[in-house]
Amino acid sequence: AVQRKYSVATMGADGIGPEVVDASVQVMEKLVELDGSFQLAFENFDWSSDLYKKTGKYIPDGGLDALKKHDAILFGAVGAPDVPDHISLWGLRLAICQPFQQYANVRPTKIFRGTSSPLRKAEHGDLDWVIIRENSEGEYAGQGGRSHRGQPWETATEVAIFSRHGVERIMRFAFQSAQKRPRKLLTVVTKSNAQRNGMVLWDEVASEVAKDFPDVEWDKMLVDAMTCRMVLDPKSLDTIVATNLHADILSDLAAALAGSIGIAPTSNLDPTRQNPSMFEPIHGSAFDITGKGVANPVATFWTASEMLTWLGEEEAAKKMMDAVEAVTERGIATRDLGGSAGTKEVTDAVCQELDKMY
Ligand code: NAI
Ligand code: MG
Repeated sequence: AVQRKYSVATMGADGIGPEVVDASVQVMEKLVELDGSFQLAFENFDWSSDLYKKTGKYIPDGGLDALKKHDAILFGAVGAPDVPDHISLWGLRLAICQPFQQYANVRPTKIFRGTSSPLRKAEHGDLDWVIIRENSEGEYAGQGGRSHRGQPWETATEVAIFSRHGVERIMRFAFQSAQKRPRKLLTVVTKSNAQRNGMVLWDEVASEVAKDFPDVEWDKMLVDAMTCRMVLDPKSLDTIVATNLHADILSDLAAALAGSIGIAPTSNLDPTRQNPSMFEPIHGSAFDITGKGVANPVATFWTASEMLTWLGEEEAAKKMMDAVEAVTERGIATRDLGGSAGTKEVTDAVCQELDKMY
């Protein structure tokens, strides 16, 4: 008998977003059918740049209340060639993350079986990281302004804000995440030599929180030196925590080092579980390949698997990832991974692997 049921809001939004979200729904429906112990009810939301261009709003009135009723949100990507990126990002993605207090952004990266890293010496198993990005403060909190527009003396500020509350909750989450992984190893990234206020607060809070996690080994890195360590000594890293801005950049580097931006997922979590969390691939709407049927759906498969884990369906989530890796191992891959398969071929192949597993 089916006991567990989850409602998932799907929102492909722009560009390849709907293509990869639809592919993931197909795989999850297969998984649910085979597993039989839980159900997923999908509701699609058409919030996108098209809707914005028609109505002037990304989120219709009362929309967030409707969204909040769901257990999780599976998001594609937002961004259109004819809408400035800061309008689309703040209009949709951040307009969900911020009120829903999704303060922890989690970005795992690894080298899949059958794929290769651009790092000559790194193989499957050598690079297996989780980057934890603070998702509500720093330079992305929206503090700042512009004065004297258009004048030669025009001034703009982008103020980085760090609250003890905000730093402590992400640090605690990071130590907990490190503690759950086999190596129990955390690297705290800052820039506390040059940024002598906010980043020094990060260092201090890290030392305080560390006392509650004696079994977690941890170290500190400056963000510039961290880029070198990621490239030169990937095996020395496991769980990583950094600010909104620093981790945004480091996680794109991480995705590239693992082989492609087309495989990396991200979770925007409200660890208090008062609001639904939102799951998305880290890539954007990729206008250059939209509608061509070549988008790599793997990032969104991994994303969906992360979502299932968060909902409590660890076993099914793991099966989904095993199926995805079985497919990459067989060499069925899109162009970004050096293959020649399309979105549909990869999706069908993952469904076939699932069939074999049950
Ligand atoms: P992008 O991630 O959309 O594309 C970068 C490059 O990677 C492109 O060559 C693209 O074809 C390729 N790529 C991305 N995802 C792929 C996939 N699944 N399979 C195969 N190839 C893939 O980043 P870009 O071009 O900087 O941004 C395009 C738009 O997306 C912009 O409007 C940007 O603001 C938005 N964006 C939105 C994000 C979000 O919704 N969270 C994140 C990043 C960008
Ligand atoms: Mg980014």
